[in-house]
Parts: sequence; C-alpha cells; structure tokens
Amino acid sequence: MMFKKITTLVATAALSACLVSGAAIAGGPMTIKFSHVVAENTPKGQMANKFKDLVAERLGGKIQVEVFPNSQLFGDNKVLEAMLLGDVQMAAPALSKFSRYTKKLQIFDLPFLFRDMAAVEKFQNSAKGDELLASLQKKGLVGLGYLHNGLKQLSSSQPLTVPADADGLKFRIMSSDVLAAQFKAVNATPLKKPFSEVFTLLQTKAIDGQENTWSNIFSKKFFEVQPYITESNHGLLDYMIVTSKEFWMSVPEADRAIVKKSLDEAIAFGNEVALKKSQDDRQKIVASKRSEIITLDDAQRNQWVEVMKPVWEEFEKEIGKDMIDAAYKSNM
Ligand code: LMR
Repeated sequence: MMFKKITTLVATAALSACLVSGAAIAGGPMTIKFSHVVAENTPKGQMANKFKDLVAERLGGKIQVEVFPNSQLFGDNKVLEAMLLGDVQMAAPALSKFSRYTKKLQIFDLPFLFRDMAAVEKFQNSAKGDELLASLQKKGLVGLGYLHNGLKQLSSSQPLTVPADADGLKFRIMSSDVLAAQFKAVNATPLKKPFSEVFTLLQTKAIDGQENTWSNIFSKKFFEVQPYITESNHGLLDYMIVTSKEFWMSVPEADRAIVKKSLDEAIAFGNEVALKKSQDDRQKIVASKRSEIITLDDAQRNQWVEVMKPVWEEFEKEIGKDMIDAAYKSNM
C-alpha cells in the first residue's frame, strides 16, 4: 500500500517536471504580435515586415515578430484596448486614432497645417515631437516612433473643386473630432468608420467619399469605386508605433535595445516606401483611368483653406497654442 503511494508520488512528480519543461519548450521565443489594418504593399505593411525580418536576423530564437495585416487581428478601434490587455504587443495606428488616450495628438489632424512632408518630418523630430510621442505614457502606452504615410486626398462620387461641392455629401473619417469638424466646416456629414469598412461603404454608395493617401486609395482599391479624386493634400496621415509599457519593460534590457534599433531602421525604410508610393501609387491610379484626378488652382485651394482653417481655433485649447505655433513654424 505504502509502496503504491510512493510510486504514485514519484510518477506525479516526474509528470509535472515533464510538463514544466514541456511548457518552456512549447512557449518558445517571446512573441511580438504586430497588428495593423492596411495592406502589405503600403508604407506601414512594408515597415512591419522589415521589422519582423530584422528582429529574426538579430534575435532569432529569443524574440520573434508576427505581423497581422489587413485588420486580421484587430481593427484600429480595438487595438489599443487589446494592447493594454496584453493580447497584442505592437501596432501603428494613424495619429488620428488616439483621441481616447490623448487629445494632444489631434494636432496632426488640423487641416492645411503642414505644407509638405519635410515640415512634418521637421516637427516630429523636434522637442515638441518628442513631447507628443510621450503623451500616451500616463495611459500605459509607449510611443516608439513616428512613421510617415503622407498627405491625404479627397475622393468622391462627385467632382470636388471648391468647398461648396462637398455640401450635403457623406464622408467616412477616422475616429477624430478634428476630422469631423473639418467636414462640418464644408457642410458635409462626417461618419466615423473603421478602415476595414470603407471599400464596401463606397461601393454600395452608403457614403459619397473619404479622405486618404495615394497608397491607401490604391492598395484598398478605393479608386475603383470613386470616380473623382481631388489632389488636395489638405491633411496628414502618419502613424505612431506603440507598445504597452508593461510589455516593453518585460523585454530584457539588452534585447529591448536591439528591438528598438531594428524598429528605427524599419521606420527609415518605411518612410522611403511612403515617399515612393505617394508618387507611384498616384501614377498607377492615373494609368488605371478608373478615377479622374482633379488638381486645384491657387484660388480654389485657398477657398478650402479659408473654410477649414477655423477648425484650428476650435481645438486650440485641447492641443495647446504653443504646440500649434511650433508645428506651423516647421513650414518655414
Ligand atoms: C484609415 O483608417 O483611413 C487609415 O488610418 C488606415 C491606415 O492605417 O493607414
């Protein structure tokens, strides 16, 4: 009887030892799930894939990156919540999608604030840019860097040359109150919808238009269901790469430095892709002849500026006047 008990105990101990080591083996390397909503042939898609490759090269066996494109894992409206719960470790939402966590990043949505991407780059690399990168800290999120996509264009079912042309139309926007105010300023109706729904909304004519970059309009085929694109360059679509503080601090320090360096290199690569795609994808849309591209002369463009620019003042309190002034000065 006693002997049987002892054998059972020994067997149980051996079994649990096996389970523990088994778990360690099955657990394998630390995994960074990187979730995003765009296609792989975009600046963000290419950046994420590059990051995955660099980490595999440098930390293979210890840390691996798994990339989930096309809203496969989370849409942008859920991803930050999921990150704080530990269900995903990295993402790069558009700067327009952080307003539940900070109002400061709304600055990047102000219409006609940045003249070109050089101004954006200058501002993001300034002390104010760093301050904004740190604006999510209190919420448990760490901003690891900015990534460019580019300036937004207006696509629509009708030609848009002057603001009055947008009167009464419905536009999909990202989840940003500044973008809502921007469309209200031209008497249009803004609708906050996830990126994954935009194509169908346009195709079924549930909405009339949307605003996005050339690479998003091309890679998600919006140009096939939008007969007109106004080359307005009226606003910015850039990203912040974020992780949770809890996860970031759980990565051993030396490895963390390698992950960060890999990310910085991937961002530099993604920025080159962004620049190239803003020209190439535009050209592909022109060549497709599916969509007519409308360019604005100075007088027409000034009309858009005039009606949309009062939005700056509306959000000045939340964003900070000093911040807006600094961003504006980056154009000089
Ligand atoms: C959008 O929702 O239009 C964009 O933020 C998508 C993206 O991530 O580029």
